[in-house]
Amino acid sequence: MSDASPAIEVRDLVKIYSGHTAVSKISFTVARGEILGFLGPNGAGKSTTMRILTGYLPATAGEVNVCGVPVASRSAEIKKLIGYMPENNPLPEDMRVSEYLHFRGRLKEIPRRKLSLRLDEVLELCDLTRVRHRIIGKLSKGFRQRVGIAEAILAEPPVIIMDEPTIGLDPHQILIVRDLIASLRGRMTVIISSHILPEIEMTCDRVLIINQGRVVAAGTPADLRREVFGQSRYHLEIAGEIAATLPAALTQIEPTLHIASSGEPDAAGFRKLILTSAREDDLGDTLLHALATDGRFRVRALNRAQPSLEDVFLAATKRGWETVDAPASK
Ligand SMILES: Nc1ncnc2c1ncn2[C@@H]1O[C@H](COP(=O)(O)OP(=O)(O)OP(=O)(O)O)[C@@H](O)[C@H]1O
Ligand SMILES: [Mg+2]
Repeated sequence: MSDASPAIEVRDLVKIYSGHTAVSKISFTVARGEILGFLGPNGAGKSTTMRILTGYLPATAGEVNVCGVPVASRSAEIKKLIGYMPENNPLPEDMRVSEYLHFRGRLKEIPRRKLSLRLDEVLELCDLTRVRHRIIGKLSKGFRQRVGIAEAILAEPPVIIMDEPTIGLDPHQILIVRDLIASLRGRMTVIISSHILPEIEMTCDRVLIINQGRVVAAGTPADLRREVFGQSRYHLEIAGEIAATLPAALTQIEPTLHIASSGEPDAAGFRKLILTSAREDDLGDTLLHALATDGRFRVRALNRAQPSLEDVFLAATKRGWETVDAPASK
């Protein structure tokens, strides 16, 4: 293992299941200590990619290295470098929580004298201490889910891969898992997949949006907003000589500022407008001050419209569909 290599390198990864392409030339790198979120609609290829990364599924083509170790030829070694929580994680129904984790810890070759201390720590971290003596088969779904998370982090491997770690958890438990993942930042490299976008936004340093087996967008949530929407938007409620004077007044404030849409005036004479600008920094303060002191307008409300990660996701997956996979127009 070389310390200079990135935690994960994926190059031109392809997976074809009996004629069906699930992953189509995906490439990405994850730095050590980084938390990466995998986003994508159902069937996008997230779980397939994760299973290949962890050495549980052979790729059709392409290359994956984890901490500099090639997955294809050294999958036994890879399994020690990665804590993996698979989708629909199967757990033994008849074992007790601590008994199971103890057993997994031994398999992961955690020395016996360290194991019981680490077990207590992980049970606490995953809020499982009060069910440690319960039979796994009698636990609710959310508790089982957390047993899977506990197992993934147990041996403190350099890389953690969790396929939808918060699926089926209640809001309180989602918070616990989110804090848990955040506590790994900088210490371990983490990849999580999720459909809960605000959660990805709060937890992840970087996001990869996958659609139909391809990466359609990658970057920090802020990068993605910029890349996908390319401009900032403002909602403005304003009264005055809009059509005749506002466009010129806006251009004077900032040359790229335009009216994108304009509503009808209400009883008090205020219209709701949407403004766009190529400027990425927040123009709100400047805009409000300039319009208020201009004398020709009255402003009732102004706020910057932040597209949510949901908007980014919908736009990026739609774009990927159209630009990458749509048949050429006839
Ligand atoms: N064992 C398999 N045999 C054949 N096709 C498969 C197999 N596993 C997955 N697929 C197909 O590969 C594609 C990608 O599936 P995958 O499970 O990786 O998607 P996903 O992004 O994890 O979706 P979800 O959000 O629903 O979990 C899908 O079209 C799926 O039907
Ligand atoms: Mg999946």
